[in-house]
This record gives sequence, structure tokens and C-alpha cells, in this order.
Amino acid sequence: MWTKQKLHEILCEPSERLVEDMKRLDGDIMILGAGGKMGPTMSILAANAFRKGGIDHKVYAVSRFSDSSVRKELEDNGVNVISCDLEKAEEIAKLPDVKNIVFMVGRKFGTDGGEALTWGMNAAVPVLVLERFHDSSFVVFSSGNVYDLPEASSGGSLETDKVRPIGEYTQSVLARERIFDYYARRYGTKSLIFRLDYSIALEYGVLADIAKKIVDGKPLSIENSCFNCIWQGDANEYALRSLLLVDNPPKRLNVSGPETNGVKATALKLAKLLGKEVTFEGEPSSNAYLVNCGECHKLMGYPRTSIDTMIEYQAQWILDGGEYINKPTHFEERKGSY
Ligand SMILES: NC(=O)c1ccc[n+]([C@@H]2O[C@H](COP(=O)([O-])OP(=O)(O)OC[C@H]3O[C@@H](n4cnc5c(N)ncnc54)[C@H](OP(=O)(O)O)[C@@H]3O)[C@@H](O)[C@H]2O)c1
Repeated sequence: MWTKQKLHEILCEPSERLVEDMKRLDGDIMILGAGGKMGPTMSILAANAFRKGGIDHKVYAVSRFSDSSVRKELEDNGVNVISCDLEKAEEIAKLPDVKNIVFMVGRKFGTDGGEALTWGMNAAVPVLVLERFHDSSFVVFSSGNVYDLPEASSGGSLETDKVRPIGEYTQSVLARERIFDYYARRYGTKSLIFRLDYSIALEYGVLADIAKKIVDGKPLSIENSCFNCIWQGDANEYALRSLLLVDNPPKRLNVSGPETNGVKATALKLAKLLGKEVTFEGEPSSNAYLVNCGECHKLMGYPRTSIDTMIEYQAQWILDGGEYINKPTHFEERKGSY
């Protein structure tokens, strides 16, 4: 039986390879924007890896913590919690000096009509943080959608491909990347730009979005015909392990699972497990947002959780009455409107 507690336990269980990498990491870890979908379990995962490896380093989780229950869960699991508004330089000034930083604060939804706030969060906040922390090393969350839409048959965009972000959210994410490039030149700041495509954690994600359409009996668009995704626990492990791969100039890394998943095929598998019918609308386009993650898997190995396991987890989560947190990925969006 799935419960939120069971989900978090699985997401926060460190692998041996994470523990071994954390033994090689010099210094504490600070996670900025830790109060969102990925940050809480990443913070606890890091604390668990330190504990399991007998490593005497601290994990700091920094966010505004609008959800106070998140704060308690983190504290109960040995994470040092710091409430901080990262839009305010005077609050950033008070943060502890930490060598390794995961930068995951950002804004996506509400960009249409709230463009200034999105640019402020994604392009101005990095400047405030880097003015204070340019001597630290960063893993910087970005998106696989900074590339142009590649042909579905191409196997996905490579890190060496040209960027051509569509829409203001993705443009502001590219601005975030460029700010880190600038500080690398100016101060020698090392970083790794973590171009993530679609983390899955049952309460949200592409699979949850597809399953919701099935459960609601609504037609599913197959215009964006395929997608990549990765289990949140694996994505969080890659992010922490990437702290060992920072570089100057900043290294780009596509991060997702190894499969190119068909929307239609995935929906049919989910529908069967849910005992429901699924209907489709639209015609598949020849291109789709896809990233090639060969470099990530070469450097850090394949993710632990396969796509079929995620699909089974997702269906059972719904059958067990699990929550959908209503933060849709909009994976079907092709014009950059969020
Ligand atoms: N999830 C994915 O599949 C995915 C895919 C590609 C890229 N990304 C990017 O990866 C990052 C992490 O993903 P996520 O899904 O965990 O994002 P998320 O749910 O949006 O979490 C980001 C968190 O940052 C915190 N924050 C916002 N404004 C802040 C401020 N002024 N000061 C301090 N903290 C602030 C918020 O928590 P508080 O309310 O506690 O402050 C927010 O929940 C994001 O930048 C996202 O765009 C995610």
C-alpha cells in the first residue's frame, strides 16, 4: 500500500554509489530552493548518505518554507533548515559559508502574465546568490527545454547542440545558465548546469499528468508524441553526485532516463493497470522535447528505477488513493506558454 511516508522513504534511500561519491566530496552541502517538489527529499537523501557513509558533513536546506510541515520533516531527519528569502541580498548575506551548493530555486508556472517575476527569480536571484557565493561550487538546475525541438527520431538534443529556448520561461532559464557562465569567467566559479527533463514522484510528473487524464476520462493530446522522464530519487542522486563534476567553464549535462517514451504507449500501459479506457486527440508531430542523456549515464551509470517500474508505481499510487498535488508539468506544451 502506497503512502506519502513510503514514497519519501524510497526517495530518500541512498545508493552505495551515492554514499561512495559523498565520501569524496569536500565540505558541507547547501540546497537553495529546498522547499519545493524535489528539494525536501534531496536534502534528506544527502543527510542519509552522509550518515550511512559515516561522513561528518552538514546539509543545509534553504527556502522560505511556505509549507511548515516540510520544515519539520527536514529537521526530524537531521537537515539544518534555514528560512531565507533568496530575493533579498540582506538575507543571503546571513547564510553560512558552504563549499557545495545545489541551486534549484526558480519559477515556471504563472509566467504568462507574470513575466517580470519569472525573470527576477530565474535571472536576478542567481546574481544575488553569486555575489555572495562565487567562491563556492554549484550544481545549477536548468531544463532540457532550452534546446530547439529536435526531431523525435533523433534520440534527443545533445549538450553540444545549439540552444533556442521557446517562450519566456525557458529564455529566463537560459539567462540563469548565462549568469553562471559570466561568474565562471569573472571569478572562476565552478558549476555544472543540470538540464533536467521531467522528474517523477507519483504526486506530480508526466506519468501523474497522463494518469489524471485517464482517470478524469479526458482525451490525451499526442501532438508532443514522446518524452523522457526520471525517477525523482535518481534525479536527486545525480544532482548530488554532480557536485563532483563541476567545472570552469561550466559543464552542461542532460539528465533524464535512458528511454524515449511514447505518450500513447505509456498511456495504454497506465490505462490497463488502472482498469480504464483512454482516448487520444491530435496528430503526432515529427519533433518533441527530448534530451540525449548518454553523457550523464556514461559518467554516473544508469538510473536505478526503470520506466516500467515507475508506470507500475504510478498506477498503484492512484489505486491506493494517493494525492495528485496539481502542479502539472505541461509536458505537452510546445509553444513555451506556462
Ligand atoms: N521537477 C521537474 O521535473 C523539473 C524539470 C526541469 C527543471 N526543473 C527545475 O528544477 C528546480 C527544482 O525543481 P522543483 O520541481 O523542486 O521546483 P519547485 O517545486 O518550483 O521548487 C522550487 C522552490 O523554490 C522555493 N522558492 C521560491 N521562491 C523563493 C525565494 N524567493 N526564496 C527562497 N526560496 C524560494 C519555493 O519553496 P518555498 O515556498 O519554501 O520558498 C519553491 O517551492 C526548479 O528550478 C525547476 O524549474 C524541475
